[in-house]
Amino acid sequence: MRVDVISIFPSYFDGLALSLLGKARESGILDLRVHDLRDWTSDRHRTVDDTPYGGGAGMVMKPEPWAQALDELTRESGAARPTIIFPSPAGEVFRQATARDLAEREHIIIGCGRYEGIDERVFEYAATLGEVRLVSLGDYVLNGGEVAAMAMIEAIGRLIPGVVGNPESLVEESHEDGLLEYPSYTKPSAWRERAVPDVLLSGNHAAIASWRREQQLERTRTRRPDLLSD
Ligand code: ADE
Repeated sequence: MRVDVISIFPSYFDGLALSLLGKARESGILDLRVHDLRDWTSDRHRTVDDTPYGGGAGMVMKPEPWAQALDELTRESGAARPTIIFPSPAGEVFRQATARDLAEREHIIIGCGRYEGIDERVFEYAATLGEVRLVSLGDYVLNGGEVAAMAMIEAIGRLIPGVVGNPESLVEESHEDGLLEYPSYTKPSAWRERAVPDVLLSGNHAAIASWRREQQLERTRTRRPDLLSD
C-alpha cells in the first residue's frame, strides 16, 4: 500500500519509522511518503494560508498548493483513483471498521490541514481525482490533522497482511468483534496479594473461552454501553 501524507509539519511523522510500521516500511509492505505542503508553493515566503473571506478569526489554507500537491501525487503513483483523506473534526468518526475498509486501498493520500481549515473548494477539486473522505478521530479538537493522521496510519497499517507478525492477535482485540478485549495476565500467578483468576490456570480451554467472552460483555456493558446498542 502506498500512503502519501501532505503536511506543513512533516517531522511529526518521524515516529512512524519506529516499531512494526517502521519494519513494514523497510520491507516495502508499506510505502509511506511524507511531503511538505510548502514544496508546492511558488512565492518567496512559501505561503500556505491567507485571511478568510467574510472575516473571522484565524487563517485559511490557500487552495493552489493543495491542488498542485494532489495533482502531482495522483499522477505519480499510477494507482487508478486514490482515496484522499482529510482529517477533520467535522468528518465521519474513524472506527475499526474504517481502518479495515481503508487497509484494502492501493493508494491513500492524507491531507493534514492547520489553522481554521482548508479552502472548501479543495475538497471539491480532490473529488475529481479520487474518493474524498473527511475523517475525525473523535469529538474533540486538535491543532491540526497530523496527530489524527498518525493514529489512522497506525490503525490502518497494522491491518495490512504481514505487518503484524501473528495475525491471530488481530482477531482477539478490542473493537474487532464490536466488544472490548478481555483482561490479560502473565506470571507470577500471585502478585502483591492479587491472584490471577483460577479459570485461567485450569487448562480447561472451553471454560477459559467462555470466561473471556463474559468478561468482554461485562466490560463493554459497563465501560462502553454505546457499543452494544449500535
Ligand atoms: N483536526 C482537528 N481536530 C481533529 C479531529 N478530532 N480529528 C481529525 N482531525 C482533526
